[in-house]
Amino acid sequence: MNQKKEISASILSANFAKLGEEVKSVIQAGASRIHIDVMDNHYVPNLTVGPLVCQALRAEGITVPLDVHLMVEPVDALVPLFAKAGATRIVFHPEASKHSDRTLQLIQDVGCEAGLAFNPATPLDYLDYVLDKVSVILIMSVNPGFGGQKFISSSLKKIKRAHELILESRYPIHLEVDGGIKADNIESISKAGANIFCMGSAIFESKNYSASIQEFKKLIVARCP
Ligand code: DX5
Ligand code: ZN
Repeated sequence: MNQKKEISASILSANFAKLGEEVKSVIQAGASRIHIDVMDNHYVPNLTVGPLVCQALRAEGITVPLDVHLMVEPVDALVPLFAKAGATRIVFHPEASKHSDRTLQLIQDVGCEAGLAFNPATPLDYLDYVLDKVSVILIMSVNPGFGGQKFISSSLKKIKRAHELILESRYPIHLEVDGGIKADNIESISKAGANIFCMGSAIFESKNYSASIQEFKKLIVARCP
């Protein structure tokens, strides 16, 4: 199964004082999804945004998929709020939910695509009995909590393993990688089987969003629109 290769821009590194403009710029520049990092200062040692920001982007006319990455504990209470605010996908960390299967079902019930996120030290075993409910597997290639961290190289092995699991399952599951993706590693991440590349600092800290995203797309080549 050859999934479309996409760049998802993580707004964590955007200028929040002009978020609407920033999001429009990266979409114009070639990002096909927007990634919203939700941190609660409990599951991760940082605090970011809630459903209001998702809702505000929709109200601003943003129509591309909005992927909500929940780094929160507990998870369930926020799910309907983000669905109502216009989220497309909702991804959570299985360690943060007491009942992952129930949370996956809840996300689907509110009309969103569901996904599981795996920290660098978290095994993929959590997927064993829930693959039928998962639209996206998100491999964290940094420890969650901050943008601009260095890619942890052992993640490549895990990306390959996740890719094999997806192929074996025959489900049309997307494989997303989040953290430390730059021009010098995106090609190997793509070759390992990833099809969604979540990038924050590499895009927002670049001088020219369009030139940067075009460069990243060239490096992931296969089936990149
Ligand atoms: C980290 C977040 C990432 C982060 C990626 O907890 O989940 O989405 O924004 O940022 P970069 O691309 O700068 O590593
Ligand atoms: Zn993220």
